[in-house]
Amino acid sequence: MTTVDTRAVHAGRADLAALGVHVPPIDLSTTNPLPSVTDGGDAYELLATGGTLPPGGNAVYQRLWNPTVARFETALAELEGTAAAVAFASGMAALTATLLAATRDGKRHVVAVRPLYGGTDHVLATGLLGTEVTWARPDGVAAAVRPDTALVIVETPANPTLDLVDIAALATAAGDVPLLVDNTVATPVLQQPARHGAALVLHSATKSIGGHGDVLAGVVACDDQWAARLRQVRALTGAILHPLGAYLLHRGLQTLPVRVRAQSAGAEKLAGWLARHPAVARVHHPGIDDPAGLVGRQMAGTGSLLAFEVRGGAPAAAAVAGACRLITHAVSLGGVDTLIQHPASLTHRPVAADAKPVGGLLRISVGLEDPEDLRADLEQALAAID
Ligand SMILES: Cc1ncc(COP(=O)(O)O)c(C=O)c1O
Repeated sequence: MTTVDTRAVHAGRADLAALGVHVPPIDLSTTNPLPSVTDGGDAYELLATGGTLPPGGNAVYQRLWNPTVARFETALAELEGTAAAVAFASGMAALTATLLAATRDGKRHVVAVRPLYGGTDHVLATGLLGTEVTWARPDGVAAAVRPDTALVIVETPANPTLDLVDIAALATAAGDVPLLVDNTVATPVLQQPARHGAALVLHSATKSIGGHGDVLAGVVACDDQWAARLRQVRALTGAILHPLGAYLLHRGLQTLPVRVRAQSAGAEKLAGWLARHPAVARVHHPGIDDPAGLVGRQMAGTGSLLAFEVRGGAPAAAAVAGACRLITHAVSLGGVDTLIQHPASLTHRPVAADAKPVGGLLRISVGLEDPEDLRADLEQALAAID
C-alpha cells in the first residue's frame, strides 16, 4: 500500500487521464440537460434518496450531486481509510447532517466528551436539532450510554486544550452506538480514526485540509451506509459544498502531509519555548500532555495547534493577543499563516461556565513561517504583560 504522501497527491484523480486533463475540471452546472423524463426521474429518485451517480449517469441538479465535489470526497475517503465521504458547505453543516442522520428511529440521545469546538458544544447544549446531550469524561462514556443513545461524539486532539482521547478504548465503551470523531486538528495525515473503530470521521475542512483560509467546508468520512444517509440529508437540507470549494480542497490535499509536518515541527518548537517562559503558567500540546502515550500509537505526530495559559488571566491574555504583530489575531486554525485567539471570548464563548476554557488561555495555530520569527513575535507580545 502507498503512503499517505503518495495518496494525498493522487487520490480522487483516477478519471482524469481518460478525460485528457491533468487537473480536475470544475463542474459548475447547477442543472443538467435530461436525456428523457424517465431517465431524469429515475436519476432524481436515486440521488434524492442518498444513492451515488452511476458511470455515465445524469446528475440532474447540483444539490443532489456534483462531480467536482465527488472527486474530493473520493480523495478524502482514501486518506481516512473509509469507503466513502460526504462533503458539506461547512463543518457545522456536516455536524448538523450527522446529527440528523444519526437521530432516527426514536433515538435522539447523544453522549459527548468535552472539550469540543464551541460551535459543536453550542448545538448540543441548546438541543437545537432535537438532540438531548449527556456530557461525559472518556471513562464515563460506557455508563452514560442508554438504549436511546444515537451517537457518541469526541474530538481528539480537542479544541482548544489539545486533550487526547484513546479512540479504540472509546469505541469499545460506546459498544453498538456509533462513534463520531472530529479529526479536524489531527488531519488524516496524523490520525485515521476509522482504523481505531470510529464509525464517522468529521472535519471542518475549512482548517488544515483547505489550508489557506479561503474555503469554508466540512466533510464526513464513513462507510457506504452512513454515506447514503448523509447524502440524503444533504440533498434534502441543501448543505452541499460548492464545487469551487471542492476543487480548492482537493488541491489542498496534495500538500496536506507536507504542510502538516512542517507546521507540527514549528508548533513543537514554540511549545517548548513557551513552556520555559516565565509569563506562561502552562502549555497545552500533545507533545507535553500525553499520559496514555497516544502520540506514536494513535497519532503519527503532534499537529499544528497549541494552547498556553498566561499568568494574569483574561486581561493578560487579551493584551498578548492584541500585541502580536506577525501572528494574526483571528479565529480558525490549520492554515499556512499563524493565528492566535482567546477561546473563552471567541470560539468557545457559548460554552457553559463550568466547561469553558480558563480566562488566561490563548490558542495558537502554527503556520509555515520560520518558528524563530514566530518566537520573536510572541516574545515581544508577552513583554506586554511583564
Ligand atoms: C474542531 C472543529 N470542528 C468543527 C468546526 C466547525 O467547522 P466550520 O467552521 O467549518 O463550520 C470547527 C471550527 O472552528 C472546529 O475547530
